[in-house]
Amino acid sequence: MSAIKISENIYWVGAIDWNMRFCGSYTTPRGTTYNSYLVVDDKIALIDSVKPGFEDEMLERIREVVDPAKIDYVICQHSEMDHSGAIPKLMEIAPNAKVVATQAGKDAIFEHFSANWNAQTVKTGDTLSLGKKNLMFIEAKMLHWPDNMFTYMKEESILFSNDAFGQHIATISRYEDEVGTAVMEEATKYFAVIVSVYSSIVQSKIKEIEGMGIGINMIAPAHGVIWRNPGKIIDAYKRWSSGEVSRKVTIVFDTMWRSTEKMANEIARGVAHEGIEVRVFNLRNSDWSEMIKEIIESRLIAIGSPTLNMGMFMTVGGFLTFLKGIRPPNKKAVAFGSYGWGKGAVRAINEELEKMKFRVLEGLEIKYVPHKEQLLECFEFGRRLAKEA
Ligand code: FEO
Repeated sequence: MSAIKISENIYWVGAIDWNMRFCGSYTTPRGTTYNSYLVVDDKIALIDSVKPGFEDEMLERIREVVDPAKIDYVICQHSEMDHSGAIPKLMEIAPNAKVVATQAGKDAIFEHFSANWNAQTVKTGDTLSLGKKNLMFIEAKMLHWPDNMFTYMKEESILFSNDAFGQHIATISRYEDEVGTAVMEEATKYFAVIVSVYSSIVQSKIKEIEGMGIGINMIAPAHGVIWRNPGKIIDAYKRWSSGEVSRKVTIVFDTMWRSTEKMANEIARGVAHEGIEVRVFNLRNSDWSEMIKEIIESRLIAIGSPTLNMGMFMTVGGFLTFLKGIRPPNKKAVAFGSYGWGKGAVRAINEELEKMKFRVLEGLEIKYVPHKEQLLECFEFGRRLAKEA
């Protein structure tokens, strides 16, 4: 296990979690990393730590560079356990080190670990001199917890961004340009599931940082790989958080006797007929995080459900609950589905879509099984949706 030099006297000393498959509600088929960065100067600082269970991997990497007992500052940019979990062990080894965090971060880790370590709280614009290198802190409240902050190193033009700009991907490579398209796929999913709900904060934080006039050569997040071309991920965050995405339709449905499925397929054919990209997911056998990722990249979402007990299917209700927590910005949405002796699913879905502040279009309901005439109706419905996308 090697420490990896990422800039002059700055080393990646984190851990690789090849086997993580879930992060909360979120599937992570490619694993993840917990990134810690060691800055060696007159004073030694560690920016973020790793998840409990990975302490030894991190310490082994630190020891390749310095004795961990000599660490002066443990900079905790975020109190969630995947970044703060190794702090108790670090503080045992380096009891004179000072924990640096926002006030909310300090409160959270002190409460969480029943700790009373040396600590320094920081706000936006506060600086910490390590000798030749200097750190400046930028609070990043609600990206994605109240305690988050970024750390900027002027001398190397590196923004340490903690969860923001991260991706759940386990790899030996440390840079985005060494990995390929998987990074952007994972960055999109990460934004969709973790960050999207705070889209307006993303926009104002990016504006705030751009207004500081600081040069950024690298963005070093706490998960995944480092961006040596920061513009690529900053532009993507601007796009996703504004809802300015491609003309694409995502269709998500469940089905009882395959009538709603037939509708979904015909609607998709109609969308595609107009030259608009479309993705179709059956909720029963699809990865919900992947669906959210597609939704973030789509202008229009179509939700299909048969009517059950005058309402929507339970899986559709579950998915809308998931989606409501994420609230992707600036979307159009529509409901469709089949029914037997009574309607209800489209109305129930619409109520949920309206709560999410989507622009809700007129839906489509078909009685019993869609035959030739109704399938044509679904196809034409799809063509109309394409024009809205
Ligand atoms: Fe909010 Fe990577 O933890």
